[in-house]
Amino acid sequence: MASLTIRKLDDTVKTYLRLRSAKNRRSVEEEVRVILRELIEGREEPLTPFAAPPAPSTTPTPQRAGAVAEASVTLIIGGGIAAYKSLDLIRRLKERRIEVRCVLTKAAQQFVTPLAASALSHERVYTDLFDPQSEFDAGHIRLARDCDLIVVAPATADLMAKMANGHADDLASAILLATNRKVLLAPAMNPLMWNNAATRRNVTQLQRDGVVLIGPNSGEMAEAGEAGVGRMSEAIEIANAAERLLRPPVPKPLAGKRVLITAGPTHEPIDPVRYIANRSSGKQGFAIAAAAQAAGAEVILVSGPVDLDAPPGVTVKHVESARQMLEQVQAALPADIAIFAAAVADWRVANEGEQKLKKTSAGMPPLQLVENPDILATISKLADKRPPLVIGFAAETEHLIDNAKSKLARKGCDWIVANDVSPATGVMGGDRNTVHLISRKNGEMTVDSWPVMTKEQVAIELVAHIAKSVSDKSLEPAS
Ligand code: C5P
Repeated sequence: MASLTIRKLDDTVKTYLRLRSAKNRRSVEEEVRVILRELIEGREEPLTPFAAPPAPSTTPTPQRAGAVAEASVTLIIGGGIAAYKSLDLIRRLKERRIEVRCVLTKAAQQFVTPLAASALSHERVYTDLFDPQSEFDAGHIRLARDCDLIVVAPATADLMAKMANGHADDLASAILLATNRKVLLAPAMNPLMWNNAATRRNVTQLQRDGVVLIGPNSGEMAEAGEAGVGRMSEAIEIANAAERLLRPPVPKPLAGKRVLITAGPTHEPIDPVRYIANRSSGKQGFAIAAAAQAAGAEVILVSGPVDLDAPPGVTVKHVESARQMLEQVQAALPADIAIFAAAVADWRVANEGEQKLKKTSAGMPPLQLVENPDILATISKLADKRPPLVIGFAAETEHLIDNAKSKLARKGCDWIVANDVSPATGVMGGDRNTVHLISRKNGEMTVDSWPVMTKEQVAIELVAHIAKSVSDKSLEPAS
């Protein structure tokens, strides 16, 4: 993977980046990442960094399912025999998709070389506060802030004392004083030093300052015949602790719940080559499946023919017709929550041709239509296996709320997500949706209208409502 040295960019680009990152309160490196991401996703901010910032969004940015955010760490290697383990730590961090930039104190260089750290991190290594090359643009400030986390391993008694007292007389301590990022320390020292009253005071102070400590472990020391608490944690333990700070575990409010979702159109055959269909893309149902999976649910998605990839971790049952969809839905029960987002064809051809229908002089072949089973109504009215929460959709082109309310009553579901699908809205096949959530409260129907959102945001919002309802009503688990 190529790395980009901002210092080597030409002055106009550098000035632009500095102004834009200052305006957005991001580090220059973060800003470059945002620009690249925007370019790849086809979104473009105006080229002037002085343009008004976009209005803050009230809804959370959806995390692409399965995506692991890139992160970066400044790793300060202190001077102790445990420094050799920090070389392994670089590899453990990198295999977790965490970029590492190393800073070696003077004492650390007695134990490991900058060359080894550089070869493993694939980055330049920093050793000197007064390095004219990196300090011309305040390199220690960049090392302190152009990262998501600072890890100090080994954190020697001396480094911890300097940090607790706000010293800044070398590159490592200057970075630690200048940072606004979380700091993780992996102490390593002789047990007597660890238990010394001065170190105890420093540890208490550092913890009060919000610094996180991992270890030290107890065991044998490098010094012959000595043992006790003071061994640096293993590289893997430090890497895991760093990852927990960088990527805190996402809450899983639907853990243990089984969610059944229908999505997409259905195709109702006329003859072996023709069918009746509609314009549903399946995007909304697939987004709900991904959001429910991310919330910890076991998700079964019964989908009509669509051009979408299965969301990671979701079981997809592919069907063509409404009758096949009903069969798969019934086979997937019991479920705790059922969401019927499919645009099921209301009718199918009664007399489906066994061979391709031919044009004849007698005119158009008569197509007799019969009604399809209503999957939502069928499941809502089940006596035994009815899921405790059943949600339908109402895609309407007129009288949206009235039609949706009567659907809620007629079909017997608990909630209806109503959306306007008139061609002017671009909802069918598009990426955005404006929805109204209709439910019942004390026997009355209530309408909660949401602002226009992407289909992923609608999915996240709907899953958040479901999670709240699940915790309020503590739905009985499906059995
Ligand atoms: O097509 P209609 O407007 O009646 O759809 C409303 C809701 O009923 C949607 O949730 C849809 O998935 C569901 N439905 C169904 N089976 C049908 C027709 C609609 O499950 N045959």
